[in-house]
Amino acid sequence: MRPTPPVLLPLLFLLAALGLAPAFSVGEEPEASPAAPARTAWDATSSVGRVVAEVPETARIFELVGIDYCCGGERTLAQAAREKDLEVDRLLAALLVVAPGGPGRLPSFVREPLPVVIAHVVDTHHAFLRRELPRLRAAFATVARVHGEAHPELLEARAVFEGLVPELMAHLHTEEETVFPRIRALTKEERVEGLADLLDQLEGEHAGAGNAIHRLRDLLHGYAVPADACALYRVLLDGLTAFERDMLAHVHLENSVLIPRARALLGRR
Ligand SMILES: [Fe+2]
Ligand SMILES: [Fe+2]
Repeated sequence: MRPTPPVLLPLLFLLAALGLAPAFSVGEEPEASPAAPARTAWDATSSVGRVVAEVPETARIFELVGIDYCCGGERTLAQAAREKDLEVDRLLAALLVVAPGGPGRLPSFVREPLPVVIAHVVDTHHAFLRRELPRLRAAFATVARVHGEAHPELLEARAVFEGLVPELMAHLHTEEETVFPRIRALTKEERVEGLADLLDQLEGEHAGAGNAIHRLRDLLHGYAVPADACALYRVLLDGLTAFERDMLAHVHLENSVLIPRARALLGRR
């Protein structure tokens, strides 16, 4: 087994200094109640997606140790830790550093009403994609033309990106025009048709987008800036990094909060 990655050590030292220890166990999906106090109840069987849903700051911990909290969000902490040769107790301890009571909390959507979650997804993440994708496409076209000979990986990466963009736009359209209105109707106890299949479809499309995003990162060497990169090349790599980060947060919110809660409501019918 490899030692704990160095990035975890400062967190663990901080934890030890604070005298904190993991003391949580998993609870039930709460009813929507914005005023309810945040409660975490994590142990080795908690899913990665659930942990990030309850305390979004934990996404930074998972990013530091390379654990996918987006499309791999259904894995337990024990499974995720094992894949990274980490001890799950140490991972839990690091997660507690950003548990409730810590500074700079981000909003958790676990307890927000589903229409509020949907509005956030559309206003924040869908708006981001509609704003950034055209800009990234234009930058990719220029950078691939200018630098493609010296960096042929740009050509393959651009093809992956160009394949992903129309799929994402169709996906946003499906969510906004077909799925989200049905989820809103569901919260008003109205009758909805075909929602279970649509939720399955969305998850499948999320997995496909996740694969494309991982492929982009691999092809472009983790978005490291080459020595001969021009300013636009850097802008492209920065933009792709921001795109990846926003997609992780976006798909996480849908896969680990919105879809499970919509399925739970469907199950009560
Ligand atoms: Fe979405
Ligand atoms: Fe989605």
